[in-house]
Amino acid sequence: MNVYDGQRIAVMLEKHGLSQTENLEEADLIILNTCAVREKATNKVYSALGRIRRAKKTSALFGIVGCVARESGGDAFKRIPELNFVLGPQSYHKLPEIINNPDTKLLNIDLTGIEKFDELPQITKSPTLAYIPIQEGCNHCCTYCIVPYTRGREISRPFADVVKDTINAAKSGAIEICFLGQNVNGYKYTDENGKLYRLSDLIKEAAKLPEIQRIRFTSSYPTEMSDDLIEMFGTEPKLLPFLNMPIQSGSPRTLKRMNRPDDIEVYRNIVKKLKSVCPDIQISSDFIVGFPDESDEDFEETLNIAKEIKYINSYSFKYSPRPHTAAALMPNQISEQIKSVRLQRLDAQLNENQREFNMSCIGKEMVCLCEGDDKTKRHLVFRTPYMQQCIVEKPDGDIAPLQKIKITDANKASLRGEIIK
Ligand code: 5AD
Ligand code: SF4
Repeated sequence: MNVYDGQRIAVMLEKHGLSQTENLEEADLIILNTCAVREKATNKVYSALGRIRRAKKTSALFGIVGCVARESGGDAFKRIPELNFVLGPQSYHKLPEIINNPDTKLLNIDLTGIEKFDELPQITKSPTLAYIPIQEGCNHCCTYCIVPYTRGREISRPFADVVKDTINAAKSGAIEICFLGQNVNGYKYTDENGKLYRLSDLIKEAAKLPEIQRIRFTSSYPTEMSDDLIEMFGTEPKLLPFLNMPIQSGSPRTLKRMNRPDDIEVYRNIVKKLKSVCPDIQISSDFIVGFPDESDEDFEETLNIAKEIKYINSYSFKYSPRPHTAAALMPNQISEQIKSVRLQRLDAQLNENQREFNMSCIGKEMVCLCEGDDKTKRHLVFRTPYMQQCIVEKPDGDIAPLQKIKITDANKASLRGEIIK
């Protein structure tokens, strides 16, 4: 979401006559787009702001946008008095106001609407993989999560607007699209005639566009995996056989206190249904270890479910207490030391799953999307349908971004392959 927000901000500022620089010392305007989901990310923002304050031109305007801006509000100005603007995730379209009035301080952390999507200019040149937000905010109050506070209640964008953005992405270079939302499969929009649109309708509409070859979406909430959506994995060839559907923990006791669906059978059944319509599908998850009062037995259940479902491409985090969340006030917070040991053990399991899946790909042919050169510039980096990285010898001359690749080797981090001529 932040990558997408950054692209929209860049296009908006280009329309105001600004151009991008990677060089901090020559910048006239410096924007830090921020994430508040874990404390570490928030701390990084403030250390970066300190560094920027020392390195920037005296006349340069600087500020923060996104979730840390929303969380800190006016306090950010107290911590860093030189800041010029603090704009929450729903109000970064107000940035031009600070360019026009550089002597004021701009604070806007309202979450009242998503008119930013209407006010911002369209992206004119899409990357081959284009992100398209379809909803913002979240109504699932997981007790550890700051998102409902920073991004607000869930709002689905009008169907016609999302279709317009998808067509725009296709016409400006996108081959793959990823529908985005904190609770993407909860997308529901009723138009003026009372017609209800869901994520499956968006996928069908996007699949009609010849330019769009591949479709994915992230991130999904387990109990919103409706049957119409599950069926799409069997009927729509452009929908990639890969789903991010976080479970967070394998312990019903912990899930209950997280305020998440706590019947593990629910997760097993969704995976079973998905595999029955699409036998090749792979699932990825996010995990939190060291949630308050998590016992050794609770943690073992997380390890077991990671092994059983064979999640690939997953993310694991130490629980981080966040302001405005219920879990931060729960008793029996877990020590950093225990969290670190659990994280290491879970990562070992997730790495093993990944290694096993990567090895199983050797000899297979997959259509992959090119992301560009690797660091050495001698190889190209591709993404497989399962989001694995695949390294390929760079051929002479230009090639199309989508290529059929034969997988020749693998380790836990990536694959190697050859372009099939
Ligand atoms: N501590 C640790 N991880 C968190 N996440 C969300 N809130 C927290 C927190 N307080 C993780 C969840 C979520 C991902 C985006 O970030 O796993 O799925
Ligand atoms: Fe946060 Fe996701 Fe839970 Fe919503 S569903 S509260 S975004 S973890």
